[in-house]
Amino acid sequence: MFTTPSLSLLPSGAWGLYGDDQLLAELRSVFTDPIQLEHLVSTAEAVRLSRVAYLRAVEDGWAIVVPPVARFFSLIVHDERLLTLLNGSTVHPDFSREIIQAFWGLVSYARMSDKDDEDYAEWTFPDVIAHFSPRDELPKPKPAPPIKPPMSDQIVPLTTAKPEMLLTAALDLRHTEYRYGETSITCDQLGALLDLSARAREFVPGAFYDTTRRPYPSAGAAYGLEIYALVARCDGLERGFYHYQPFDHHLERLTIDSNHAGRLIEAAVESTGGHVDPPQVILFVTARMERMNWKNCAYLLAHQDTGALLQNLYLAATALGLAPCALGGVPQWKFTTVFGVSPAHEPLICAFLIGSARLQN
Ligand SMILES: Cc1cc2nc3c(=O)[nH]c(=O)nc-3n(C[C@H](O)[C@H](O)[C@H](O)COP(=O)(O)O)c2cc1C
Repeated sequence: MFTTPSLSLLPSGAWGLYGDDQLLAELRSVFTDPIQLEHLVSTAEAVRLSRVAYLRAVEDGWAIVVPPVARFFSLIVHDERLLTLLNGSTVHPDFSREIIQAFWGLVSYARMSDKDDEDYAEWTFPDVIAHFSPRDELPKPKPAPPIKPPMSDQIVPLTTAKPEMLLTAALDLRHTEYRYGETSITCDQLGALLDLSARAREFVPGAFYDTTRRPYPSAGAAYGLEIYALVARCDGLERGFYHYQPFDHHLERLTIDSNHAGRLIEAAVESTGGHVDPPQVILFVTARMERMNWKNCAYLLAHQDTGALLQNLYLAATALGLAPCALGGVPQWKFTTVFGVSPAHEPLICAFLIGSARLQN
């Protein structure tokens, strides 16, 4: 049994918690600032690990990590038996009461206990991790090329058209619309929508990576978003599944059994609370992580870029007299099962319903 706790400053600048002569755990600063600890802090009350903490295997033990918002430490636990003392357990046959309390003291000092969770009351665990985690743990990768390799050789060229409506009017009139007209959207309207909102205008060679110019802004000009289409009812375009190629402004027809459309259409309708008319075209926006990851925060940038793209889709749809609706809630796995696009390489970020607008009287 380890009986006597002590604290020592290690050459690395971390503080080590010793049990007798054995290094049991060490407190490291996430930043370079020295840790003002100097003496053992003991906590008599049992500690539960924070709801927003996570554990990961490192070379010399287990690292407990919490997002460094108000907490600037990582705790490396060299003796994994200590981990069992973070669920409210108060005794362990291998550690004296003093050692247990010194360990709890270290955890509390690092603000890794559930008593420190008040600040995160409105946050889910995945949101905290996505938003606050440090980005510098991996070397900056070189992004994948700006164009996704072709997914099919069945090409459907798209047309373009410039609507008359002024931007000020489109901004004013833009709204989500669940009701469609009697006629379907046309292939020309779909082409115009994609041209106005997402088509690549220009290829721009770069020193670190090549970029493109498009009608919506993109962090780092990475433009890692991809658009897929499920076409259920579109005049001039066969029912089926497609991928949009923004450089040549065409659709690549994907070989997917059209019987699979039903489950995605059902999911889309469900996402509107059942309000929408039978969808005519559903666009799916994914993010190519290997392209977006130029700054080690692909997930955040994917969502930020999607916001910009969505606004373009809404405004272009309004100007073209179409009925738009963004959809945040289509389940990833339904999209993955039908389109077969890898969720690890290209997660689904959102969907967008589009149909013909009803005639105004
Ligand atoms: C990112 C995003 C996700 C959305 N997800 C859904 C959705 O899942 N279901 C739905 O019915 N509407 C969805 N909407 C539409 C909003 O409900 C709508 O924009 C909001 O009610 C404001 O109405 P307006 O667009 O007519 O101004 C979404 C909008 C955005 C921007």
